[in-house]
Amino acid sequence: MATAYELALEKTRNGAKPEVAAAELVALMTLDEKVHCLDGGVPFWVGIKDITTGGYHSRPFRAAKVDRLGIPGFHFSDGPRGLVVGEATAFPVSMARGATFDPELEVRVGDAIGKELRTIGADLYGGICVNLLRHPAWGRAQETYGEDPHHVGEMGAGLTRGAQRHVMATLKHFALNSMENARFGVDVKVDERALHEVYLPHFKRIVDEGVACVMTAYNSVNGEWCGQNDVLLADILRHEWGFAGFVISDWIFGVRDGVKSLQAGLDVEMPYRMIRNAPIVAALSDGLVTEELVASAVTRTLTTMLKFNVGKLPVSDLSVLLCKEHVLLSQEVAEKAIVLLKNESIDGASLLPLNLKNGSKIAVFGRLAAMRNIGDGGSSDVMAPNVVTPLVGIQEHFANCEVVDYSQATLAAQVQQAKQSELAIVVVGYTREEEGEFIGDSEDTAAMVSQIPRQDDPELASEYKNYMKENHHYAPDELRIKSRNGTFSIGGDRESIRLSDADVQLIHAVAKVQPRTVVVIVAGSAVVMSEWINEVPAVVMGWYSGINGGHALANILSGTANPSGRLPFVIPHDESHLPFFDRNAKSITYDYWHGQWKLDRDGNTPMFPFGFGCSYTNFSFSDPEVEVSETVKFRCAVRNTGSRDGATVVQIYTGRNDSAIERPKRRLVAFKRVEVRAGETVQVECTTSYQSLATRDIQTHGWFVESGTWQLEIGQFSGDPNSLCESFMILQRIQL
Ligand code: BGC
Repeated sequence: MATAYELALEKTRNGAKPEVAAAELVALMTLDEKVHCLDGGVPFWVGIKDITTGGYHSRPFRAAKVDRLGIPGFHFSDGPRGLVVGEATAFPVSMARGATFDPELEVRVGDAIGKELRTIGADLYGGICVNLLRHPAWGRAQETYGEDPHHVGEMGAGLTRGAQRHVMATLKHFALNSMENARFGVDVKVDERALHEVYLPHFKRIVDEGVACVMTAYNSVNGEWCGQNDVLLADILRHEWGFAGFVISDWIFGVRDGVKSLQAGLDVEMPYRMIRNAPIVAALSDGLVTEELVASAVTRTLTTMLKFNVGKLPVSDLSVLLCKEHVLLSQEVAEKAIVLLKNESIDGASLLPLNLKNGSKIAVFGRLAAMRNIGDGGSSDVMAPNVVTPLVGIQEHFANCEVVDYSQATLAAQVQQAKQSELAIVVVGYTREEEGEFIGDSEDTAAMVSQIPRQDDPELASEYKNYMKENHHYAPDELRIKSRNGTFSIGGDRESIRLSDADVQLIHAVAKVQPRTVVVIVAGSAVVMSEWINEVPAVVMGWYSGINGGHALANILSGTANPSGRLPFVIPHDESHLPFFDRNAKSITYDYWHGQWKLDRDGNTPMFPFGFGCSYTNFSFSDPEVEVSETVKFRCAVRNTGSRDGATVVQIYTGRNDSAIERPKRRLVAFKRVEVRAGETVQVECTTSYQSLATRDIQTHGWFVESGTWQLEIGQFSGDPNSLCESFMILQRIQL
């Protein structure tokens, strides 16, 4: 016999509104069943034992399951760089994908990850992470796409579109979560314009794309924790943006006050029965919370599940995991992501692409050359086997050369070998030890420990205390990770945004004796390079580049692929050009100014601007046109004037010369990656909505587009001196 949930699904398929079918289903539930759907359902201690003993990478997290009515619950599995359960395809991290400037490619990545999620029965992908990169020291920078709201929104919308062909997707972390070590304690202060024009437009873009679920952030915003923040959840997300999906908390301790969280509109505390259950049960019996309020949260969850056909989604065959198509897609993304930052001539020819005679000796240096180093070791970690390291990629590609690994040799031996080689490749940067998700001892976590529901399973709690003691994962009474043997690495925010002293010393030493030196940087965001960059002719931003990253790197170095990645953030000459960052801050103000916008405002020339990247060919732009009607359309012709096929990114920036409103000198409003064959010309058209030109009206809390003359630059990076400059008129102020 069909269950009540199956009947509701059928009704929805036959045209009933999912919210009506969900409300009918909720009407059949007992109060206990409804309350059960407000959190992960699993008692805290049972859950914590599971998650710290390998459970995290073994199965999805389930919530909102009610057997009596056949409600299957939803099944969450993380991201963003792939399926985190079992062995799966590791894609390049999101920041690398941001460098492709290719939302359609991101649709394909989402599609592949969605399919892999369906092999383990997951139906909720946790990977649409779009917190804006305010400062490159942020430990989880690699999980987002960059510093620009328009670009981040388009990339995240692409991933959502692709993933939601197969599963529901989660947009996270709402909002202003871009400090890692302080994430459990910091209060981010922000004014209305910075909030809406800088830190939220990309979230709104993805809500408009139809994302199913939003995850709240751990931090607080303007004095209230995100998990119970009325302004963010009720006023903005639900009312202003009309978000109709469901809201979940960030994992352990994402909720502080259970009742407030429900009242603000957080529907499910994840991943276990933790902070909210007891206070909500008490508030219900005291009449402080109504059953209707509980029902409305459950209805939103079930509505979304019905809309997405959860419970009846096709299960993917195991053969999609690590299938050739996904591994090659990962490699394609890595190739399109690599940014060639510098490529000077040696003996009359650019050092890259490499032009080596048979038998040439290539010396490979740097502690990261032969390391499996595909990014953060926290919640986004993917257990990909057979990762192609830079060394292996280079060895396999340049099989006609002698490729020698000196990554483990002493500095003196490395210098000796650099002298005796035709070429030096130095692979340096970061690993999950120096940047990534952080869970560790801090005052903030100590304070939260008092919220642990100690009594939910006293026997297991005491058994588990002993277990933890023996395994040294946690101190007995507090949840404190002491070592790196636990599920999560210590990662955290970077201590410095330069290379380590050892890396810099290696570059100095190798470059001194070997003029043909290529530096490959592996990192999740900007690295300040001023102390060594003038000593080397070629620098490549290689990122955490996924399962086949080494092949992608070799293809770029050899010219098999023409580099087309563009920086999704600015690289300054000096860290003082960036906004204030204190990884232990208790309170911090996010104003309008960060990244390229801040450098422009302060008159600081970047080392490499936002949107920058070199190619092995050249492009010229001509015939700009602007059409202002229902939307704003930009057109131009792009000619590949070189002798190699290649791709560039047409970037469209707007600004105002004559306005009293403070805004960035140039703001990206549209972009398009285009492939152009050598000697050919293609016509490019990009469209943007008036919203991308809009200013937040802090009186009415609405939006308007200022009238007057708008400047337009169509170029290959922000501030490109070869940009096509145009202007267009908005005749009168437009109220949106
Ligand atoms: C992270 C989230 C992640 C969740 C589940 C949290 O610690 O902040 O990004 O989705 O864990 O793994």
